[in-house]
Amino acid sequence: MPNVTELDHPLLRHKLALLRDKTTTTGMFRQVAREVSLLMAYEVTRDLKLEPIQIETPLETMQAEHLAGKKLCIVSILRAGNGILDGMLDLIPSARVGHIGLYRDPTTLRPVEYYLKLPNDIADRLVILVDPMLATGHSAMAAASRLKQAGVKAMKFVCLLAAPEGVAAFTEAHPDVPVFTGAIDRQLDSHGYIRPGLGDAGDRFYGTR
Ligand code: URA
Repeated sequence: MPNVTELDHPLLRHKLALLRDKTTTTGMFRQVAREVSLLMAYEVTRDLKLEPIQIETPLETMQAEHLAGKKLCIVSILRAGNGILDGMLDLIPSARVGHIGLYRDPTTLRPVEYYLKLPNDIADRLVILVDPMLATGHSAMAAASRLKQAGVKAMKFVCLLAAPEGVAAFTEAHPDVPVFTGAIDRQLDSHGYIRPGLGDAGDRFYGTR
């Protein structure tokens, strides 16, 4: 699928199996999700631009490289997005962080924004939008639209698992936003869960039910 990357690193696939397993405890789930998120941050930042920099090693002067261009901002879709924020920040500690909260209006079934906090300079940053589950795609699509409205010009979307239906809807609505996922599962069920999936990501992260 164009603009969709299903990550295939063996460590990531191994850890995803642990996340899917219903016997994985809340503490373990959190820890493994943090590790998976770090690996996903590594993959999603693969094309960041570098520029030369002259440094002094203890022995001599050399031309090294450091990151150039746009600074990063990770935007978490509440609440489950927060579960993958920490792992990403482990790898990119200087990234700014934004939050967006959306709930589904019971009548229209459309996402309604209830919280938004973004860095002032978000328009100048590369945004990594995170939500563990790309199910119907409605929240991710609404969040991406809201970020574009705030001036964001460069964005990537990262999730642990995706449903084919969510991938299709998101890429149609935002063909300019590359999607990175740990796996594209079989289908969305009639309750909006990804199958086989991992259950409710928020509940698994926070031990709620
Ligand atoms: N949200 C979840 O947490 N799990 C799903 O399977 C779908 C949406």
